[in-house]
Amino acid sequence: MAFNPFREKGMPIDKQLDMSWSKMNVKPYNKKEVHPYTRCRVILMNGIEVEGAMFTHQLARHSDDIELKRQLAATRRIEQRQQKMVNWLSPADESVLETTIGYEQVAVDLTAYLARTEPDPYVKQALDFALLEDFDHLYRYANLMEMSEGKKADAVTSQLTEITVGRPTKLEHRHPFDDVRNHYDRTKADPVTQLHAMTILAGEQQTMSFYMNVGNQAKEMVGRGLYLEIAQIEEQHVTHYESLLDPNASWLEMLLLHEYNEVYLYHSFLQEEEHPQIKKIWEQHLAMELEHLRIAGELLKQHEKRDPEELLPAALPEPVRFQSNIDYVREIMETQTDWNAYETEFLPPNRYPADGRYERYQQWVNAGGAPSEQVIEEHRQKLGREYRQELRGEHPVEKYRAREAAHV
Ligand SMILES: [Fe+2]
Ligand SMILES: [Fe+2]
Ligand SMILES: [Fe+2]
Ligand SMILES: [Fe+2]
Repeated sequence: MAFNPFREKGMPIDKQLDMSWSKMNVKPYNKKEVHPYTRCRVILMNGIEVEGAMFTHQLARHSDDIELKRQLAATRRIEQRQQKMVNWLSPADESVLETTIGYEQVAVDLTAYLARTEPDPYVKQALDFALLEDFDHLYRYANLMEMSEGKKADAVTSQLTEITVGRPTKLEHRHPFDDVRNHYDRTKADPVTQLHAMTILAGEQQTMSFYMNVGNQAKEMVGRGLYLEIAQIEEQHVTHYESLLDPNASWLEMLLLHEYNEVYLYHSFLQEEEHPQIKKIWEQHLAMELEHLRIAGELLKQHEKRDPEELLPAALPEPVRFQSNIDYVREIMETQTDWNAYETEFLPPNRYPADGRYERYQQWVNAGGAPSEQVIEEHRQKLGREYRQELRGEHPVEKYRAREAAHV
């Protein structure tokens, strides 16, 4: 039977608030035993909860209704606890770089899954476009990690995700005007499109914030440089994805969409989670989110006289899944590596405008070299090779096959 999030019973807010510190302070997973996609789910749901809390802070700052602010304060207190319980699953012996590898594996396999299942062709194109960029980040960080910690990235990712050259990070830097996309029309868009956009945005935003905060902890200058360079691409990705969302939705409509998305994701991950302790957390959080959704629906009825069930489907869409996407990523690499963005369009090189804006920006930031290239060069100097994990044969793009050519 289909799961109707508007009919399922959630956990009352007072029951949600009734939780001791010792219950919130969860036991972290074992980094050597955890399934890479369990780590990915933890990373994504942390980002979803951070967005949940920050969004209602923004909403509260734009409202002069004290009763509304109280309701938001209550659900937000819970989002904050959920965020701690999820993020605290990550153990202290997982280094910043190991966690970073996990973040980029999320970016690859979540983006690829969403792209494969996205009904709107423009949104799919946006996902494919950024997919190749995060795919390259994974490769650059993997080289930094082996060089500075002597650890191989596949100890984190296992054999589920390839690690090799994507769209070279150095080439991803473009003028800020060329990150802003067209938005979908929420009155016509498939709800799946809206949920996908919210999900990837929260994931990319968390990656952006993570690098903003931890990028200065790398030991070597090249590592500090790499984090700073990639953090700026994550800024581009957040700009890119947030512009897809329909800004004409009201604040309360956006709140409803946030809560529905949390229900959807916890419900999705509950289906596939094998880690018993973490599965219980997804189950408990799902019960909490059902009540948040009900409250958001009530607020919408009360303030805007609108029926939440007319905005979102009564049956949850097909679950989001973390799966290996090796063949899909190769296919996109083969066809779109050289594509670039201009204003709202994604274009192959022969159709890219010749106004020089991209080249100018490239010259500004890459004058004197890019850390994303230097890290590969230094790795090659120190270890006589670079780190790659090409699991299905040679690189799909010929010019990136010769390992000497891996730095463009
Ligand atoms: Fe939440
Ligand atoms: Fe990335
Ligand atoms: Fe990204
Ligand atoms: Fe929530």
